[in-house]
Amino acid sequence: MSTWSHDRPPYLGGSIGHVKRITIAIDGYSSCGKSTLAKQLAHHLHYTYIDSGAMYRAVALYAMENGLITDDALDRPNLLRVLPNIHIAFKHDDATQRSATMLDGRNVEHRIREMDVSNNVTLVSPVPEVRAKLVQLQQEMGEGGGVVMDGRDIGTVVFPNAEVKFFMTASTEVRAQRRYLELKGRGAEVTLQEVMANLERRDLDDTTREADPLIEAPDAFVIDNSHLTSAEQFDLALGHVVKAIGVVTEA
Ligand code: DC
Repeated sequence: MSTWSHDRPPYLGGSIGHVKRITIAIDGYSSCGKSTLAKQLAHHLHYTYIDSGAMYRAVALYAMENGLITDDALDRPNLLRVLPNIHIAFKHDDATQRSATMLDGRNVEHRIREMDVSNNVTLVSPVPEVRAKLVQLQQEMGEGGGVVMDGRDIGTVVFPNAEVKFFMTASTEVRAQRRYLELKGRGAEVTLQEVMANLERRDLDDTTREADPLIEAPDAFVIDNSHLTSAEQFDLALGHVVKAIGVVTEA
């Protein structure tokens, strides 16, 4: 529950005073713009944004740095042994004014976005023990509502009772092009073909793994943003959120 000033729109509590802060789950394929939409909504609603994929990436980076991934193979017994000691958190970064992913107290926000981590993340993400640890952490972080979380299993496993669920998709070509430009913009040495191959591999891994595969929650709003601008997508999503807040608003 929180109190808002009177000049805000009604769904933010303008004339009502108290508005229940809901949970918004965003799932979908890799590089679909989930985080863009999640950040827009979180910013607009004054909610917390949580990037669950960053947590799987951080576990992959840990495994890479500690000799637990060699020749595309994961040393699973040893990962399970050290798993309880891997510490993952988010911390506000004063320099960028954004939340940063912390692995054992170290800021790995940029490192986990690099291609080698993207290529190794689906070695650790299917491991049920890894998922159990991260899902629990995500549920704790989202306790009390007022969060927008994006990932693959947020509306199905992490927050099956989320008031609003989105399932995002776009064509592989559009997604690869967007991701390629993003990586290039950060100075990465990468080709469009490599990005496309990584996306296709992760889509296959994410949808076919046994533990918590990427599937559409039956009550999710599907957004195909192949031909939507980010402003159009935001308006569409906000419309659903406003309706849901209207339903759960407490006077
Ligand atoms: O959202 P992302 O591309 O940064 O996620 C990286 C990987 O983590 C992705 O290939 C699948 C996995 N992941 C997952 O299994 N479950 C989640 N909730 C989020 C991500």
